[in-house]
Amino acid sequence: MAATIRIDQQENLNLIADQINGFLQHAKTSGHSDLETWMRPQLSIFNQLNHGHWPEWLTTVNALPTPDPLAKVQLDQPAIQTSGELSVTSTELENQLQQLSPWRKGPFSLYGVDIDTEWRSDFKWDRLKDHIADLDGRIVLDVGTGSGYHLWRMLGAGAKLALGIEPTLAFIAQFHAVAHLLANQQATILPVTLEQLDRAPLFDTVFSMGVLYHRRDPLGHLRELSECLRPGGELVLETLVIDGDGQQVLTPYDRYAAMRNIWFIPSVPLLMIWLKRLGYDNIRLVNQEPTSLEEQRATHWTDFRQSLVDFLDPDDLSKTVEGYPAPLRAILLANKT
Ligand SMILES: C[S@@+](CC[C@H](N)C(=O)[O-])C[C@H]1O[C@@H](n2cnc3c(N)ncnc32)[C@H](O)[C@@H]1O
Repeated sequence: MAATIRIDQQENLNLIADQINGFLQHAKTSGHSDLETWMRPQLSIFNQLNHGHWPEWLTTVNALPTPDPLAKVQLDQPAIQTSGELSVTSTELENQLQQLSPWRKGPFSLYGVDIDTEWRSDFKWDRLKDHIADLDGRIVLDVGTGSGYHLWRMLGAGAKLALGIEPTLAFIAQFHAVAHLLANQQATILPVTLEQLDRAPLFDTVFSMGVLYHRRDPLGHLRELSECLRPGGELVLETLVIDGDGQQVLTPYDRYAAMRNIWFIPSVPLLMIWLKRLGYDNIRLVNQEPTSLEEQRATHWTDFRQSLVDFLDPDDLSKTVEGYPAPLRAILLANKT
């Protein structure tokens, strides 16, 4: 059965429909028909997408060369890699991929093209990989997956199927460019927010990384994450935090490190209280570190040529340009009771 995307009306969606059909097929043949049944009605969202550049991005993705069937793919290295023979040169491929810039989350190394993204997302993966429950055979959800870099690392760590959700269409296009070149259908992505998702407790592990502070209703976000987890399943929560006791949270007056959409940056003890009150159990902090200038920096794959260093006080790198504490990030794990 074709994925529920009206490919007759939007020819450009063929590639996405094929990718999603492959994912649904994997779900079905691996004994997860419930995932397939749950996802199918939600695919109609693809027919409602409305962004000036979306048709352009789809054209770029559709024009990518056919991947080499003998390509060597590596999903367990810092850069998501594939190498082999293509019908175009690496310079031509680089020009195509540059049309999808800015690339924020990565890195990727695709047929000789090294996409040096603004963020070294592998650093975050390294901070959590030895603490989380073994992903072998798991069905995982990554909320706010961006370009989907971590979805590939989840598969590389043994997950059976990895679903991402992401409302920013530029990142959806990047995900599909990478998925096409990797020729992999064990991961896919839905263009929705967590609030829009028709949530069901189907996932063994749910990741929410870099999203909580963007939400005006952070407790609502934590509750919605729990609605996606099976009982006993694991939440992996990564977010900005401040130093402080169980009653402290920072709400910026306006911007934080030049970002407009930051609402709540709690202390770790307060975050733990929120998780506990929402019914999570076995709550533990597994990592806490300031964001380094090596992890977030401008590259020629980004747009403004500005990055973390420009958002910190030049005279005191422990503060943002607005005078708040510089970004400090924590990773917490918890189980759904
Ligand atoms: C800071 S990025 C983090 C990307 C990736 N998870 C990581 O940790 O590197 C936050 C992402 O969450 C997405 N996002 C923002 N609000 C969201 C929501 N309500 N539901 C799902 N994703 C959201 C943004 O579009 C963005 O791509």
